[in-house]
Amino acid sequence: MHASTVFPLLLSLVSSVTAACTREQLLSSASKFVAAVQAGTVSSSLPLTTTNFTYQENNKPSTLTHSGGPFSQPLKIDLSRSTADTQACATYTLIISSSGSKPYVLATQLRFSSSNTSEITLIDTISATTGSLFFNAKKTLEYIQKQSWAEITPEGGRPSRELLKKVGDAYLDMWTDANAAGTIPWGTDCERVEGSQYTRPCGTNVPKGGSKTNNGNRRYVIDEVVGSVDVLCSFDALQGSRYPDSHEIRVEGGKVKYVHTVTV
Ligand SMILES: *[C@@H]1O[C@H](CO)[C@@H](O)[C@H](O)[C@H]1NC(C)=O
Ligand SMILES: *[C@@H]1O[C@H](CO)[C@@H](O)[C@H](O)[C@H]1NC(C)=O
Repeated sequence: MHASTVFPLLLSLVSSVTAACTREQLLSSASKFVAAVQAGTVSSSLPLTTTNFTYQENNKPSTLTHSGGPFSQPLKIDLSRSTADTQACATYTLIISSSGSKPYVLATQLRFSSSNTSEITLIDTISATTGSLFFNAKKTLEYIQKQSWAEITPEGGRPSRELLKKVGDAYLDMWTDANAAGTIPWGTDCERVEGSQYTRPCGTNVPKGGSKTNNGNRRYVIDEVVGSVDVLCSFDALQGSRYPDSHEIRVEGGKVKYVHTVTV
């Protein structure tokens, strides 16, 4: 085969596997989402796909404007931060609203259309409020405000996508797999914020198997630049539970630094 015939083929292969979403675009879309949450215009001001848009709240299909839902009215936002997954064309945003009439901690993944990467195909939200597990938005805010989820520098020190996925999975596997905790590179001063419950160091008193029910329906947003993985799932490992859940983990210097969970 001549180089001239091989080359266009290679190029087309490269362009089909190269992520069409850029970090800048994803983070800009995420910040528009945050602005819309604040304004109470999520259903009206964002580029949602017209054909097949899905809103999922606490692991169930729902509607953005349903009464009592987090996006049915403006929210006062005390803290938000977002990460971007250029490979999956997805973002993760944490929003803490502690000082409005109804407090919320929202863990939201957005997914974007492959045909038009500015259009949102899925808003996937774990919406914790009063009554949710260890819920106290003011306390959560205090802990999270003190943390740094800045980009990891230098670039060479960033964890790989594979490591982040592995750590996220191993963490959720701890309840079913006695060996999972041992595979996690715990940082010596890592901290865990579960709802508003604080534990430091985070690698102590962790589950060592025992449950037969896997934490399922896992959806990932992996951001190597920030060293983070967010997994939304159905937390099923505790007996009788089917908790809508978000586990976000930051890895610094190859070790777990923060774990933040939002559970309904
Ligand atoms: C992509 O979607 C955005 C938002 O709906 C729209 O403004 C833009 O025209 C679309 N681009 C293309 C190429 O269709
Ligand atoms: C529509 O959205 C659902 C849920 O996100 C997805 O499973 C399905 O594949 C989509 N269908 C099309 C035609 O894109």
